[in-house]
Amino acid sequence: MPLLEVDNLTRRFGGLSAVSDLSFAVEEGEIRGLIGPNGAGKTTIFNVITGYYRPTAGRISYRGEAIAGLSTNQIARRGLVRTFQSTTLFQEFSVFKNVLVGCHLHAPVNFVSAILGTGRGVERQAESKALEILEFMGLAARRDALASDLPHGLQRVLGVAVALAADPHLLLLDEPFTGMNPEETRHMMELVRRVRARGVTLLLVEHDMQAVMGLCDRITVLNFGRLLAEGSPAEIRAHPDVIEAYLGASGDAAAS
Ligand SMILES: Nc1ncnc2c1ncn2[C@@H]1O[C@H](COP(=O)(O)OP(=O)(O)O)[C@@H](O)[C@H]1O
Ligand SMILES: [Mg+2]
Repeated sequence: MPLLEVDNLTRRFGGLSAVSDLSFAVEEGEIRGLIGPNGAGKTTIFNVITGYYRPTAGRISYRGEAIAGLSTNQIARRGLVRTFQSTTLFQEFSVFKNVLVGCHLHAPVNFVSAILGTGRGVERQAESKALEILEFMGLAARRDALASDLPHGLQRVLGVAVALAADPHLLLLDEPFTGMNPEETRHMMELVRRVRARGVTLLLVEHDMQAVMGLCDRITVLNFGRLLAEGSPAEIRAHPDVIEAYLGASGDAAAS
């Protein structure tokens, strides 16, 4: 059984079909790329999968369970977590506090410990979890820096660290490489590989073709909300429809 199955998904906004009759499946343990020109429907798919929007038609199954119609919280609690295209950090909080807040948001509410006044134990658990994540993501030395003082690349890394606080089993990353210089891109690629090695399956929306081709096991290509092609990076690179509709549309991507 695939980890995530999207079946004949359609999402309309008024007269516009952002996603049309789309089917694809993500296997446990893979890094799957989801690419396509601007407006192809990639972010809409993330919004529907994670419960921000309801599908107009179609089914989404996660670990064999139909999840369309569940709330964003119910979906996140099942381990299906996403990051956003734009940065959503608390800029005036420290690096550590950003991850700590993420840990608290997702800690199971322990009524008994609250009543018995053992909340300090819960707090310590959250703190050690936040530290573990910062160490894992190479941010421990920056724990006391304000998020706003981090260079752009590390702000994106912190965004992924906050997502890890939600204990994802399937992590959806929306353009995590945007605005990065080549060194930041290499660093983030290494971190994404480490996240996968931790047991997290990844669905990656990204325009940076070096990152997509270098990281993904398979790539799903969209055009105007429809499935255009699917295959390995080598197959996608050589696919005539992709070259015409997608890679041809942005010269820098065609060259890489
Ligand atoms: N909330 C919304 N209301 C109306 N139209 C939307 C909404 N969200 C997305 N769209 C439209 O759906 C299409 C796909 O957008 P999006 O999913 O953001 O594409 P991508 O992430 O691939 O660039 C675009 O034409 C966009 O304008
Ligand atoms: Mg988008």
